[in-house]
Amino acid sequence: MEVLAQDLPPRVRIHEVGARDGLQNEKTVVPTEVKAEFVHRLAAAGLTTIEATSFVHPKWVPQLADAEQLFPQLEDVQGAGVALPVLVPNERGLDRAVALGARRIAVFGSATETFARRNLNRTVDESLAMFEPVVARAKDDKVHVRGYLSMCFGDPWEGPVPVHQVVRVAKALMDLGCDELSLGDTIGVATPGHVQALLAQLNEEGVPTSAIGVHFHDTYGQALANTLAALQHGVTTVDASAGGLGGCPYAKSATGNLATEDLVWMLHGLGIETGVDLGLLTATSVWMAERLGRPSPSRTVRALSHKE
Ligand code: HMG
Ligand code: MG
Repeated sequence: MEVLAQDLPPRVRIHEVGARDGLQNEKTVVPTEVKAEFVHRLAAAGLTTIEATSFVHPKWVPQLADAEQLFPQLEDVQGAGVALPVLVPNERGLDRAVALGARRIAVFGSATETFARRNLNRTVDESLAMFEPVVARAKDDKVHVRGYLSMCFGDPWEGPVPVHQVVRVAKALMDLGCDELSLGDTIGVATPGHVQALLAQLNEEGVPTSAIGVHFHDTYGQALANTLAALQHGVTTVDASAGGLGGCPYAKSATGNLATEDLVWMLHGLGIETGVDLGLLTATSVWMAERLGRPSPSRTVRALSHKE
């Protein structure tokens, strides 16, 4: 039964990360053709923002070393109006992405020093300095820029992360000129009160809710509760990964991202529009799970694909 909830947005934009955040952690390299079909299927299921790949150093993320081969195979998807953001850490990455016609990029910072060092080989401030010319050049070219911020709630090496520490880096990313910010609970330790406290402090410091997306991992089973808390605060952009694929190669305790199917089930139940066909999406995750050789961890995928 669909119950229209009060004080919630009528529509949510899902930022699908399965093809990038989901696959980047897979040990076995997925063939480029399978990745291309994955993105086509996600688009056919109604997703309108599909993060496609990363233009990072291939030694750091071997799974996405085929970005140059993959991106041109998605030209029809981008041509049909689907946004295909790609991760870009530095100017070298930006050069590679724009050469292929990417119109949306994402830089990815960290709220903690340890993760910045492990993920980008830089301190937090050195990472911001690395992003500065990337964002400036992207803005000159009218390329949309997302700023990811990882470890917004807790960090596997540093423990709980204070709100003021997150707000400082979030503001710095916005000051560089990012169009939107994605708050990452990279290891899935957030709880709803913490989510609302961070959002309130960001607003207090001048970062509007309209510029904020949320990126939850389901390690402690809190991803949907945290999402609902963010929606109640007014957030309308939610990151999720088809079938719950993914972790993070540089944060070992990170388990899967919030599964897109679990998110869609909750949103549709609340009467919130997503434009996503849950049947097609579930079929896509079942198909991808077969390619990866293990079942999807998503409860919704399991429930909807259960055969007598
Ligand atoms: P570095 O070793 O410090 O690089 O790595 P460098 O700047 O010293 O350059 C060394 C060599 O790499 C040079 O080549 C560069 O040209 C080359 P050489 O001159 O020696 O022949 N190089 C590149 N090649 C291709 N593409 C590039 C590139 N950049 C340099 N873009 C670097 C620094 C940032 C490159 C590296 O640390 C890196 O690639 N890191 C990416 C790690 C990554 O992708 N992690 C996962 C994504 S973040 C995440 O998952 C969190 C998120 O999902 C949200 C959440 O859940 O919290 C977003
Ligand atoms: Mg993630």
